[in-house]
Amino acid sequence: MDLRHWKLTLDADNIAWLYFDRAGTGTNTFSSEVLRELDRIADHLAGMPPKGLAILSSKENGFAAGADIEEFTTLRDAEAAMAFLTLGNEVFDKIERLAFPTVAMVHGFCMGGGTELALACRYRVMDDGPKTRMGLPEVLIGIVPGWGGAKRMPELIGAAAALDLMLTGRAIDARRARKLGLVDAATPRRHFENAVRMLLASPPPRRKPALGAAITNWPGVRNLVASKAAKQVAQKARRDHYPAPYAIIETWRDFGGDVRNVPKEHPASMTTLFHHPTTRNLIRIFQLQDRLKALGKGDTELRHVHVIGAGAMGGDIAVWCAMRGLSVTLQDLAPERISPAIKRGAELYRKRLREPHLVQGAMDRLVPDVKGDGVARADLVIEAIVENAEVKRKVFAEVEPRMKETAILASNTSSIPLQELASGLARPERLVGIHFFNPVAQMMLVEIVRGPQTSDEVMQASQSFTRQIDKLPLPCKSAPGFLVNRVLSPYLLEAMLLVDEGVPPETIDAAMKDFGMPMGPIELADMVGLDIGWAVGQELARPGTPIPKKLQQLVESKNLGMKTGKGFYTWVKGKPQKSKGGTGSLDLRSLADRMVAPALNEAVACLRERIVADADLVDVGMIFGTGFAPHRGGPIQTIRARGKDEWLAVLNDLKMKHGLRFEPDSGWAAI
Ligand code: NAI
Repeated sequence: MDLRHWKLTLDADNIAWLYFDRAGTGTNTFSSEVLRELDRIADHLAGMPPKGLAILSSKENGFAAGADIEEFTTLRDAEAAMAFLTLGNEVFDKIERLAFPTVAMVHGFCMGGGTELALACRYRVMDDGPKTRMGLPEVLIGIVPGWGGAKRMPELIGAAAALDLMLTGRAIDARRARKLGLVDAATPRRHFENAVRMLLASPPPRRKPALGAAITNWPGVRNLVASKAAKQVAQKARRDHYPAPYAIIETWRDFGGDVRNVPKEHPASMTTLFHHPTTRNLIRIFQLQDRLKALGKGDTELRHVHVIGAGAMGGDIAVWCAMRGLSVTLQDLAPERISPAIKRGAELYRKRLREPHLVQGAMDRLVPDVKGDGVARADLVIEAIVENAEVKRKVFAEVEPRMKETAILASNTSSIPLQELASGLARPERLVGIHFFNPVAQMMLVEIVRGPQTSDEVMQASQSFTRQIDKLPLPCKSAPGFLVNRVLSPYLLEAMLLVDEGVPPETIDAAMKDFGMPMGPIELADMVGLDIGWAVGQELARPGTPIPKKLQQLVESKNLGMKTGKGFYTWVKGKPQKSKGGTGSLDLRSLADRMVAPALNEAVACLRERIVADADLVDVGMIFGTGFAPHRGGPIQTIRARGKDEWLAVLNDLKMKHGLRFEPDSGWAAI
């Protein structure tokens, strides 16, 4: 057979081994061509037939990443999308119907279409290593698992567990997959062949869910499970913002999980989703995430990181780097300032790594170092001490002569321009900003800030360091606030000025949640810490901007938000106590406009000043740096969706009412 993307061999025991190895790329994805080849292979095997079929991947990184998104996004129209879906379904159905046993052998990532192919096989064997994950993440790009996943997953493990996986898009490791019954065996990859031979020697009956799980698929119970799931979804996302989770539930409940059965005009149909702006925006963000990943490509591999300052940020940066395999020394003025960070590390490792030997390994790599001995060994020194240029310069003067000549010196500063920190350095070209966001363990984005003298090599090495620790790099120019804080700042400020005008914080937060932010601005400010908000606000406010009075009072009385138990809200056990009085007669949309418009204006200014290279990076930076309403696709996309003229009218109107801080930036002309 003439094959480009698959390799088929037959061994002496008459077992067929089918290797997925998509041509011209390091990652397996399903294009129409890949699917058509698989279709021919299935026909060929059905005619032979072999004793059994094992499907595995030749790629080091995983089994398959899912459908070819490039192909999906360039499809002309919904008809073409449906044809692509139908093709995948027909091929996977054919695999399912093969008369001999079939086994998927899964290592690395197995997502979307990869999982759907594995589900179409009679058995699944999964590698139990830390890099192997299986899931149906389609919801994250706004669609339904459309190649049989929404049908076969609930049949195999019960609807409650399957809906949970499909609605969150969460990917699970082999241990969890085995427990759920998603795979038949979890074993190291080196035992794959043995596992397959044993399965094929005496094939057990096809796996069925336990009674408790099976019941969830029964007609009467089905409605109950679906309405419970819909209620949970409704608490997190509105249907007009995120239609896909609702579509997943309905496709399963009413159409047997098969997207081909859903009428075109139905709100849950793939055609409806294909035309929905959220789907477009989420797919674009998914692709831009790949672009950020590519910015971090490179072969620099750092081994040792030395972090100075074990506070909220430095401590968590050190903890994160050690979890990702780097050896880390952590310096502060006294041991008791370092121990809280080590404690936080132990907690995070227990939660994320679970296996005792992995937890121990990470703890061993995280070394307290009051004297700063690690500096001499470090490939990268990250400074995260108080936000004061003079103190930072003093520390640099002391540290730089002890560093390796090839090492990188980085500051985590939120607002001090790098040029201010570079003066006095012997090697200013090796100074860079590596700006993490709080909380480090949750925020994907890291701004990589180029000072006027930073060398290309140091920029590139810093970007690939970010990938090494599984974060996303965003290269930025050194200017106050870089991208994320600069755009966020006028938005938070406006929210606080609204409080001064007597609008309840609850109403302000509700308006922005309605817009699609994951959290309201007042709650966010309380969470970050009002002292920090105050300092950043002072640094970044446009001339003529009033100082929020309530914020000032709170900072002066040391009511700094979550960390002190009181800020705009009273905080109990990490939760703000909001009154449930409703939002009154205020128009939430114009409230949201008042906060969003200045942020969009600032985003336009950043683009004009080329703080980041282009509009796509503004959007993806704000989404991964702050959670800016993902379904809207970021600030610049928000402008495009409603129209530049409308937003300019909003700004001009606000300028008339509230003054010059709403003056449209000159960059609007180029939008
Ligand atoms: P923090 O006050 O929690 O921690 C600072 C730590 O540095 C303290 O433990 C202090 O003892 C230590 N320190 C001070 N001088 C030192 C010296 N000479 N040698 C060794 N250790 C010293 O501060 P935080 O919030 O962690 O901020 C640190 C840096 O990170 C600042 O530049 C800040 O702008 C930046 N940043 C803060 C974010 C936040 O949300 N807190 C977010 C992103 C950046």
